[in-house]
Amino acid sequence: MTGPASLARADLRNFVPYESAVPKADMVRLHANESAWRHDWDDTGRGLNRYPDPRSEALTARLAGVYGVPTDQVLLTRGSDDAIDVLVRAFCEAGRDRVVVCPPTFGMYAVAARLQGADVTECPLDADRGFGLDLAAVAAAGESAKLVFLCSPNNPTGNAIPGDEVAECCRRLAGRALVVVDEAYGEFADTASAAGLMSAHDNLVILRTLSKAYALAGARVGALIGHPELVRLLRGVLPPYPLPTLSVEAAERLLAPEALARAQAELAATVSRREKLRSTLEGLPCIEQVWPSEGNFLMIRCRDADAAVSACRDGGVLVRDFSRRPRLEGCVRVTVGDEAQNRLLTDILARLT
Ligand SMILES: Cc1ncc(COP(=O)(O)O)c(C=O)c1O
Repeated sequence: MTGPASLARADLRNFVPYESAVPKADMVRLHANESAWRHDWDDTGRGLNRYPDPRSEALTARLAGVYGVPTDQVLLTRGSDDAIDVLVRAFCEAGRDRVVVCPPTFGMYAVAARLQGADVTECPLDADRGFGLDLAAVAAAGESAKLVFLCSPNNPTGNAIPGDEVAECCRRLAGRALVVVDEAYGEFADTASAAGLMSAHDNLVILRTLSKAYALAGARVGALIGHPELVRLLRGVLPPYPLPTLSVEAAERLLAPEALARAQAELAATVSRREKLRSTLEGLPCIEQVWPSEGNFLMIRCRDADAAVSACRDGGVLVRDFSRRPRLEGCVRVTVGDEAQNRLLTDILARLT
């Protein structure tokens, strides 16, 4: 290995993965100890009595098309949480390796690292510059790390990282660390995906998911996009048959032209409701600040976050309280709902001072 996979844990470099029972069309399957019968209610195409296609090859090819990258650069995972986990397990040796995170950000990067016994170095986003990246600090910390997690658009602050900053990070850390750009909310953003940088930077990894803009959070389907050598290595680290048949078939239904068109229309409607919600929230006396957002959520700073969170709860609305996190004093994250849900939220908050 000469590419980015050579940064993986030394003991995984010559790892021999488990070999799943390979499917062959029109052959009788007596090689996987499955049941020969299926339930009357089983309406899946494949049959739930059968193991899934170990690589979900058709879906991988379709999603590669959606994300505009070659098929051999795509690894399907059980949501992006699974991709974060497999990256940390494959690249970080317990007690030895570290990851870099840029708080305030999505908590799973640090959780996955701690579960693996890896150290976590924090390079905080700059609250005075709209939670922008401290590029110099990230590049310096990345030199002694295996993985640098960048979230764009960032959860919970909503801002995206410009492509030139991602490219600079990859350039400075070439041969030293993988730069993992989590684009879970990428579809809602004006900022372009970092996928266009893949061919120039072999240490770039991008995470995508069907959980947000495609309304399939319950199906748990994500995609890791990276160098083909890296995809091969990580495929061997994932458990056999990573995606259940029900999830694969749900994702295939999403990719039918009418369903994709519906998702596109809903995406545009969500972005427009986000901007309307933002301007309504900005006019409320209990709110000090509403940050611009490229995601399907808004971060707001309340004059009294405890009062806002409990008024919402009493009114039947759950919001995410970040007010006790460093740099997020008084802050609450609200997801953009439908018209009625957004009105309920703003009516509750309008009663507070
Ligand atoms: C930034 C970010 N990445 C990843 C995830 C996990 O997404 P998935 O459902 O694909 O595991 C989330 C979920 O909220 C998220 O906010």
